[in-house]
Amino acid sequence: MAMNKPYHAKQHPKTSYSFSIYLILIITCPILFILFQIKFLQTPPSSSPLPSWAFFNQRQKVIINTTFNNLTKELMVTKKLLCESVIFLPLKDLRYSSTAQQGHTWFMSSMYDTHEEGEVQYQRFPSNASKGKVLCLKGNNTHDGAWNSYALAWPEYLPYNSTLKKGLTFVSYNHYNYDNIWHGLSSMVPFVAWHIKNSQCSRTPTRWILYHWGEVRIKMGSWLKSLMEATFGEPLQIENISNNATCFEDAVVMRHNEGGMSRQKRIQVYDLLRCKARIYCNVSERKTPVIGMTMFMRVNNGPRSFKNDSAVIGIFYKECKKMEGCHFILAYSNNLTFCEQVRVMSLTDILISPHGAQLTNMLLMDKNSSVLEFFPKGWLKIAGVGQYVYHWIASWSGMKHQGAWRDPDGDSCPYSDDDKRCMSIYKNGKIGYNKTYFSEWARRVLNEVKIRKKEELGSEKSSHVTSTTCYCS
Ligand SMILES: *[C@@H]1O[C@H](CO)[C@@H](O)[C@H](O)[C@H]1NC(C)=O
Ligand SMILES: *[C@@H]1O[C@H](CO)[C@@H](O)[C@H](O)[C@H]1NC(C)=O
Ligand SMILES: *[C@@H]1O[C@H](CO)[C@@H](O)[C@H](O)[C@H]1NC(C)=O
Ligand SMILES: *[C@@H]1O[C@H](CO)[C@@H](O)[C@H](O)[C@H]1NC(C)=O
Ligand SMILES: *[C@@H]1O[C@H](CO)[C@@H](O)[C@H](O)[C@H]1NC(C)=O
Ligand SMILES: *[C@@H]1O[C@H](CO)[C@@H](O)[C@H](O)[C@H]1NC(C)=O
Ligand SMILES: *[C@@H]1O[C@H](CO)[C@@H](O)[C@H](O)[C@H]1NC(C)=O
Ligand SMILES: *[C@@H]1O[C@H](CO)[C@@H](O)[C@H](O)[C@H]1NC(C)=O
Ligand SMILES: *[C@@H]1O[C@H](CO)[C@@H](O)[C@H](O)[C@H]1NC(C)=O
Ligand SMILES: *[C@@H]1O[C@H](CO)[C@@H](O)[C@H](O)[C@H]1NC(C)=O
Ligand SMILES: *[C@@H]1O[C@H](CO)[C@@H](O)[C@H](O)[C@H]1NC(C)=O
Ligand SMILES: *[C@@H]1O[C@H](CO)[C@@H](O)[C@H](O)[C@H]1NC(C)=O
Repeated sequence: MAMNKPYHAKQHPKTSYSFSIYLILIITCPILFILFQIKFLQTPPSSSPLPSWAFFNQRQKVIINTTFNNLTKELMVTKKLLCESVIFLPLKDLRYSSTAQQGHTWFMSSMYDTHEEGEVQYQRFPSNASKGKVLCLKGNNTHDGAWNSYALAWPEYLPYNSTLKKGLTFVSYNHYNYDNIWHGLSSMVPFVAWHIKNSQCSRTPTRWILYHWGEVRIKMGSWLKSLMEATFGEPLQIENISNNATCFEDAVVMRHNEGGMSRQKRIQVYDLLRCKARIYCNVSERKTPVIGMTMFMRVNNGPRSFKNDSAVIGIFYKECKKMEGCHFILAYSNNLTFCEQVRVMSLTDILISPHGAQLTNMLLMDKNSSVLEFFPKGWLKIAGVGQYVYHWIASWSGMKHQGAWRDPDGDSCPYSDDDKRCMSIYKNGKIGYNKTYFSEWARRVLNEVKIRKKEELGSEKSSHVTSTTCYCS
């Protein structure tokens, strides 16, 4: 249901509509008059030509000519006024800085999203909601989005010095950044959802415009870029905006991530991402029904790495070896290319990894695969809801989050446990291990996976995504 009347445009279109009717009237009246005249002239009364007829006729022509010239001038004046009446508003509206992510947000705050139940929230220009107006953007500020601006204009009356760019443009708003694969992916998911909505699969973007707090961004992380190229089937064209207005023939604006999307919709999006990534990377289906256990490590000695990698690796490796058909993979997220990550994930049923962006890769595993997550000391009480993002993505992408282990030991904080100041101490902490706990955990999950694989084999139903049947192809 569309309930989106941009507030500044509320009176605008109405007055312009009545104005249009006025225009139509003043244009059509003389035309009718001219047509009438022509008809009249074509059939002159032959029987009794009056001497004054020629003179009368001449006079009419002059009147028509002057009227026509006057109207042409009026139209040009009006067109100039309409072009100059395009109003640019700041992309970042500081009045809403305390509710930057809610409702109409502080980005293009005069606009409301189109939102159908369970679907992605988006804005489309031109559309019925925009009264046929296109979106124009202006400004190249990369430090303060309040200096960049947007406007709506009718394609016939674009602002001065503006250029109209052809094709479909994706305009993205991201509250965080495009480098972190979790935050970046969150802002891309709605475009993919829009892409598969109502079978618009053929609509791929000609260009992308990226904003963070209204500031122009021209880069995104290479993992995310590759995933988007795989999904849309062509290289990403990320463009700058200049200080002259740029208007877009067709633009889709997203500023709400997955918000409002039903679980089913999200699953559909992640299915498509997985499927397209595997095709892009030439990953074929796994043949033998082995169980893949992958330890996906962060940079050695970096924040949230294990204090003793080899000890933790040893524990899980041992449990894997005990299970018939278990294949153990050790991978470091920092030095794998996108396609190497896609390949590793396609072989993984159990992903073991510390809390961190690399866990986003879980979406690339076969559906129903398992995730084991690890936190250093202190995160539970002070890290906020952000610590649950990999529970969420597991749910959205159809994986099973098998719980998180939280290290009881670590650097101590001089303040109380739930004091925000402790976060700076805990944030970069490292993760220890509990041999008993890890072994039991590994055994439990391995057994579960083994039973599931057996059942699937029995019912001849493969959990594998068949790489040739993506939703959108
Ligand atoms: C109509 O007006 C134009 C511009 O004023 C002029 O050039 C033209 O000669 C006029 N035509 C007639 C038939 O009067
Ligand atoms: C057109 O004619 C009207 C009335 O005759 C006059 O007021 C107006 O100034 C004219 N417009 C132009 C652009 O000449
Ligand atoms: C836009 O409005 C027209 C006329 O009211 C209607 O026929 C058309 O289906 C609408 N388009 C969309 C996409 O809602
Ligand atoms: C259009 O651009 C020219 C040259 O940059 C500038 O002088 C002029 O003021 C601009 N016009 C408008 C309406 O912005
Ligand atoms: C803006 O447009 C004017 C007129 O078209 C042009 O002279 C100028 O170079 C443009 N400026 C930018 C930054 O694109
Ligand atoms: C975008 O603009 C910035 C700053 O003007 C410039 O450094 C960069 O090269 C431009 N990028 C592209 C892709 O045009
Ligand atoms: C933005 O554009 C102006 C002129 O259009 C240019 O002088 C300036 O360097 C640009 N700034 C950035 C950050 O690209
Ligand atoms: C996938 O295979 C095609 C054709 O065999 C090849 O052109 C392409 O480079 C391969 N892509 C990757 C990522 O290996
Ligand atoms: C990948 O990174 C890990 C740790 O940073 C390192 O031990 C390993 O040798 C690297 N592998 C390659 C192929 O560079
Ligand atoms: C890491 O764990 C292994 C196996 O438990 C142990 O042999 C080694 O001494 C430990 N290394 C460090 C630096 O504690
Ligand atoms: C390790 O885990 C086991 C099993 O959950 C638990 O009983 C034990 O107390 C833990 N050890 C430490 C040192 O936390
Ligand atoms: C995942 O597991 C659920 C419940 O066990 C099952 O209904 C579903 O078919 C499985 N999905 C796939 C793709 O195997």
